[in-house]
Amino acid sequence: GAIGAAGLGLSIGTGTGAAVETGEPSAWTREHANNIELTDDLTAPVIDENPDVISDDYWVWDTWPLRYRDGSIAKINGWQIVFSLTASKDLVPGARHNEATIRYFYSRNGHDWTEGGTAFENPLGHHQWAGSAMYDHEQDQIYHFYTATSPEPEFRQRLALGKGASLETGPHGVDLVGDQEHVIMAEADGELYQTLEQSRDQGIVYAFRDPWYFRHPETGEDMVVFEGNTPTDGEDPSDPRSYNGNVGVARATNDDLTEWELLPPNLEAIEVNQQLERPHYVFQDGKWYLFVLSHEFTFAPGLSGPDALYGFVADSLYGDYEPLNESGLVLANPEAAPFQGYSWLAMPQGNDVLVESFENFRGLDDTSRGEIGLDEVGFLPAEEQKELFGGTLAPSLKVQLDGTETRVVAELNDGHFIPSGGSPNGNGNGRGR
Ligand code: FRU
Repeated sequence: GAIGAAGLGLSIGTGTGAAVETGEPSAWTREHANNIELTDDLTAPVIDENPDVISDDYWVWDTWPLRYRDGSIAKINGWQIVFSLTASKDLVPGARHNEATIRYFYSRNGHDWTEGGTAFENPLGHHQWAGSAMYDHEQDQIYHFYTATSPEPEFRQRLALGKGASLETGPHGVDLVGDQEHVIMAEADGELYQTLEQSRDQGIVYAFRDPWYFRHPETGEDMVVFEGNTPTDGEDPSDPRSYNGNVGVARATNDDLTEWELLPPNLEAIEVNQQLERPHYVFQDGKWYLFVLSHEFTFAPGLSGPDALYGFVADSLYGDYEPLNESGLVLANPEAAPFQGYSWLAMPQGNDVLVESFENFRGLDDTSRGEIGLDEVGFLPAEEQKELFGGTLAPSLKVQLDGTETRVVAELNDGHFIPSGGSPNGNGNGRGR
């Protein structure tokens, strides 16, 4: 199967010698999106009161675990680590994006988290957005992939790597230590990936961000998928062609992972959706399950879909991606709380996937929605805005994958679990246990 190579302990970058073959992007079409339906199997339960807040001082949103090169969750001397976008709770929730700082949290059991500190000393960008973190246990160093973002109105996003840090573990906690070097991996090229300038008139938001590291299960190459846009001739936000989200692909061209080459996107949502956020893979039974997040407000005119985790499956990197559940919908917020969660991350656990996310505007229910829409939140007094926002990890959910179908099987009410970690090179491609 596709995960075979992961267990061979291939040396960095050399793989089997065969380089990945690129191909045409698959399409998420309007026809697919018209099949979106919030059935029980594809809807998260309403989050109960969850007083267990991960940080008193910081809003916490997009989160990713430290993983080994083979994709499995790292457990180092008994500790698991997650990284999160964070910002001071002095800010109103809407202001957090432009002040995002990556911080780490550690845990012995994968659900009770203690705040460590900042992940970087001198990162690139005015602020940092989502990414992924890989620990090479032989080199004892972390490769931290992130988005170097410029402040508005420039709003530029570049893929960046911070490397050199390692971990000092003790009986009571974990420290990030070591000098870090930061490099830009890639910028939008204007051909495969739309530049900010090209997008100016078109749309609502722009993306070149969220690099998610994986080792290609067959070739052993070091790669990332990321959130991009395909250049299109859409004219303004009323033009469906202005909605041009894609899943970008890049490959490292040196063993240090400091040099990268942009490859064509492998999935596009032209005339469907503007944002295919935080793309990531789960490899199971030789299948490539590609997950993305998207928002209700980024669907193209004439379509509608919820804030949700969406997914696609193929048998290779540039295979023919089929939308899961015929529409792509995998895990939606419930209609009664349409903005309660976001930024779902699917991680393999045994034969299922465990989906971690954060509590978003959980205070907006469908009744208040008529009165206070998401757009209006920013006009409320600061304290009221903060009341409506979660800004902490949500209860994780267990989802079953069965070919092209999925269903929610459990909510893990007592915690913000990530799968338990183990030692590297033993578990296959992040299959956990
Ligand atoms: C998803 C997201 C990411 C981005 C971050 C910015 O929640 O939009 O794509 O990195 O949030 O806050």
